[in-house]
This record gives sequence, structure tokens and C-alpha cells, in this order.
Amino acid sequence: MVRLMEPGELAGLSVKNHLVRSATWLGLCRPDGSLPPEVYEIYGRLAKGGVGTIITELTDVCGRNNAIGNNMRLYSDALLPDYRKLVDMVHECGAKIIPQLNMYQYVRPGIFRRMVDVDGLTAADLADIRDLYVAAAVRAKECGFDAVQLHLAYGWLLYRFLSPYYNHRRDEYGGSVENRCRLIVDIIEGIKAVLPAFPVGAKFSFYAKPVEEIRRLMRQQNVAAIPLSAYYATEECAAICQYLYENGLDFIEVLGDHSPWEHGNHYDSCYLPLAKAVRAVCSIPIVLTGCNNDPDKLEQIMADDGIAFFGLSWALIREPELPARWAQADRSPATCIHCDGCYQTVAHACRFL
Ligand SMILES: Cc1cc2nc3c(=O)[nH]c(=O)nc-3n(C[C@H](O)[C@H](O)[C@H](O)COP(=O)(O)O)c2cc1C
Repeated sequence: MVRLMEPGELAGLSVKNHLVRSATWLGLCRPDGSLPPEVYEIYGRLAKGGVGTIITELTDVCGRNNAIGNNMRLYSDALLPDYRKLVDMVHECGAKIIPQLNMYQYVRPGIFRRMVDVDGLTAADLADIRDLYVAAAVRAKECGFDAVQLHLAYGWLLYRFLSPYYNHRRDEYGGSVENRCRLIVDIIEGIKAVLPAFPVGAKFSFYAKPVEEIRRLMRQQNVAAIPLSAYYATEECAAICQYLYENGLDFIEVLGDHSPWEHGNHYDSCYLPLAKAVRAVCSIPIVLTGCNNDPDKLEQIMADDGIAFFGLSWALIREPELPARWAQADRSPATCIHCDGCYQTVAHACRFL
């Protein structure tokens, strides 16, 4: 049986263990996307802490808008020296590093920079979006990154393409699973056309729940940030992953609705049922994310469910050295309590240290 902290292969990449740092926005980059010393410090500690693969944070592929503020950006060649330095530093510690390519919304170039959502995008806009992703992937490869991850989670543009709640297009980019995946497949094919051996992964948050459960949660919390109809049936989530895999996607990171209304409801590896639903329909390499706290449970999942990689965000904010700890004698669970307090702090650090 392959163990959690032993070497493995993720989408053709030789990795030193089966732990993946799930993308974690630090809020520390300069507005132009260049990297200040604090970013190198945090990544240096993370890489030395023993995690096998690091997925950076949401990274703008386009310079015309900024996703969330002070996040990474790969829209310009001028940024390459900073990111190359980051990659080299992580590689020196034996870890792999992958940027998470993202577009907030499409901003049409020109004098009047107009933001356009899914339904209003023209064929020229769609081609521009594909080209922006491909150009960012090429930059990532030039910096030495080991792969790219497309951000299909948390309501950003590509997520909205997949969702029938946001996507009402009547052309070949809306309607069926195949059509809603089309822009993503265009991007994957565009990257593969210029970088055939460069792995392309994706992160997809499913928001998959029984409708009654969603209604109950909404009544209880009195919030409606995610509308009911934005949720997916688990089968449809699995069908999307299967379709993307058949069309060139190399790995998928899966998790459910990690929204505030679920806090207090988190339990170890809570999105395993979703990952199993994906595994049931295709053999795509899966990174299961969400409350992966207990190394013994993770090894059980590896043995029982054919899921070999595990994403961690919160736990590594509190304990960047957690992988090294698990690789040595101390296999006690991660000490993070999933309070989400780190999200409220500068540089997204644990409030209890
Ligand atoms: C401070 C913070 C920043 C995050 N930034 C990102 C991000 O840039 N991209 C992303 O896909 N997810 C982001 N996430 C979500 C995590 O990647 C992860 O999916 C989620 O926290 C669940 O995993 P966990 O239980 O191991 O924390 C962030 C989470 C935190 C706490």
C-alpha cells in the first residue's frame, strides 16, 4: 500500500508525497502582481515544511482587472523574474509548484473598459479569454512552474460558465454539460497546442447538496449568497469532471461548499462523497480538499477509495511544518480548528499563534 508521505505521481509529475497545499490567497502581492519579500518568506517556510506540491493562489491572467486585490498575477512578461525566483526557491526544497490561473470577469479592451458576464460575451471575447489563459500558461512554464490549475471554483468567470444559474447562453457555449464546458476545453486545448506535455489541472467547488438541506441552511442562516439554483446535483458534478478529463484535463481538485454557513459542520475529509462520485465515473487523478486533518484517515481513503492526493489550506496556515511532522514520528491530527479567523487577518495568518 502506498503511504501518504511516500513519493507518488500526480498527473505525470513526480511528487515527494501525497499532500498538496490548496490555493491560498495571502493578500500580500503588490497591485501589479509583483512579489514582496514577505511572500518569499511564507513560501520558503511552506516548502521547507515538507508539502509535496504547492498550488499558489488565484492568479490573474488578464491585466485589465484584478480578482480580489493584492493577489498573484501572470498577465505580463515583466512579472517573470519575481515568479521565477519563487519557483526556484520552492524547487530547491524538492516541492512542485503550480499557479492557479483565474479571471474575475471579462473586461473588454478599448477606451470604455466594459465588464461583460457570461451571457454577453461575443465570439471575439471568448477567443480573447482563451488566448489570455494560454499566454499566462506559457508564462508559467517559462518561470518553471510544474503545471497550471484552472480556477473553476467559488463563482469566478469559468465557474459561472459551468453553472446553469449564471450561464443562459443559447449558443454552443450554453445548455448541455458539453456546451458549458466548451470554453474550458478551448483553454485546455489552446494550452496543449503550445505546451503538449504541460499538465493542466482544475479546481471545482461543487456546491452539491440535496435541495432540502440547502433550504434548511438558508432559513437557519438567513443568507442567500449562493442562490439555490446555483447548486449542482452530485451526478452532474461527476459528469462535468468526466467530460473535462475526456477532453484533456490532467487532474481535478474537488471540494464542496466551503462557505461560512458550514462552519461548525466541518468534519474530517468532509467532501469524500463528492470525490467518490467523481471516481465512480472516471479515473482522473483527484485531489480531495476540505478538512483533511488526520493522516490515518487519509491513508484509509487512499486504500479504500482510489483517491491519492489531499489538499490542505487552513491546516498549513497554522502549521506549515505539518507535512514534516507527519513524515516523522508525530502523526497526530492537524491542530487547526477551521474557525476561518485567518481570513480576517493581514497576510492570512492563524489568529491563535
Ligand atoms: C486565507 C484563505 C485564502 C484562500 N484563497 C484561495 C484561493 O486563492 N483560491 C482558491 O481556490 N481557494 C482559496 N481558499 C480556499 C482553500 O484553497 C480551500 O479550498 C478551503 O479552505 C478548504 O480547504 P481546507 O479545509 O484545507 O482549508 C482560501 C482559503 C483561505 C483560508
